[in-house]
Amino acid sequence: MILKDAGKLELSYIPGKILCRDEELQRIKVFLQTGRVLISGGVGTGKTLLARYVGGDAYINCYMNKTEHRVLEEILRQLKPRFNPAGLPSQRLWGEIESGKTIILDEIDGMHPEELRHFTYSLSRQYELGKKINYIAITRNHFILQQLINDDAIWSTFADKAIVELKPYTWEQVKEILWYRAKESIEARAIDDEIISLIADIAIHSPGHMRTAIDLLRNSAMIAESKGQEKITPEDVREANREEWVSDLESMEKEELTVLAAVATACKRKAYADISEIEEAMKIKSEEYGISIDKKNFEKILQNLIQQDFVYKGNMGYTIIHYPVNLLLSEIEERMRK
Ligand SMILES: Nc1ncnc2c1ncn2[C@@H]1O[C@H](COP(=O)(O)OP(=O)(O)O)[C@@H](O)[C@H]1O
Ligand SMILES: [Mg+2]
Repeated sequence: MILKDAGKLELSYIPGKILCRDEELQRIKVFLQTGRVLISGGVGTGKTLLARYVGGDAYINCYMNKTEHRVLEEILRQLKPRFNPAGLPSQRLWGEIESGKTIILDEIDGMHPEELRHFTYSLSRQYELGKKINYIAITRNHFILQQLINDDAIWSTFADKAIVELKPYTWEQVKEILWYRAKESIEARAIDDEIISLIADIAIHSPGHMRTAIDLLRNSAMIAESKGQEKITPEDVREANREEWVSDLESMEKEELTVLAAVATACKRKAYADISEIEEAMKIKSEEYGISIDKKNFEKILQNLIQQDFVYKGNMGYTIIHYPVNLLLSEIEERMRK
């Protein structure tokens, strides 16, 4: 057993503590006291988590509910489960929302632009009518949202300066958060700093950011568990992050394949290798494949491999992140024999 509580790695789970966002949380709470706040940030920066942590009476994902009417229906379904909004005009539905309620409007830029414009207009109208509907709105990019709304008057009532921007976490922050989440969900003996570092390295360069980190943690734990291991290994993380690029090896020269094989060999049993370990592995592989590469050429090829994403230069050394190295080595061996 490696996973002691997989539910704590689900996207919908709200952890007891939120790390690295003290200041942002504080600002969200302060803005919300005035009735509105807009959280802006890329995928996996913790927007949904922060909003749900602060809390609201209704939570709507606007990407799933793209029209004003659908959003209102969904709000009322949560606020007034016995109310039937079918067939009623939006105006009527606005009237049903009680003053003082707080609504979370996630992925608000996912609404149809016309609907978004009208919805934010109606929302600001409610305010002018003296009705206080509090909201936490969430967008990936507040500049784009402002352009979509495309109306200075609506924008200034809707968000104006009540914006909290979430910057991507640093590698150290992703590690800190991962450690906390891992302690809640995974047996202590099954995970170590090397694994957390590798996952963090992959996450900070992935478009899913912290979301990728949590997914990788869960999936590598599941892979390790299915193999009957006691611990998660770097190979399990690579397997969880696997991409189908082995066919790309066909277009590679033997020299490149040799350097790639050396990197793979050097980080076979660990997450990262340093340059001297790769050079050591180079000697063995060159001899094995009967290919000689001088130091200058080796360095050039290594840089190329990094640029093409075959090799990754992380915070703790060189590694391979898109493919299990044992599999990669057998693929290379096969090509070398041809
Ligand atoms: N500061 C944090 N502390 C703990 N977990 C976090 C933190 N930030 C993000 N997470 C976790 O990372 C994942 C992605 O966060 P999420 O709020 O869904 O990002 P976004 O909505 O910006 O795409 C979730 O599983 C969330 O619980
Ligand atoms: Mg989200």
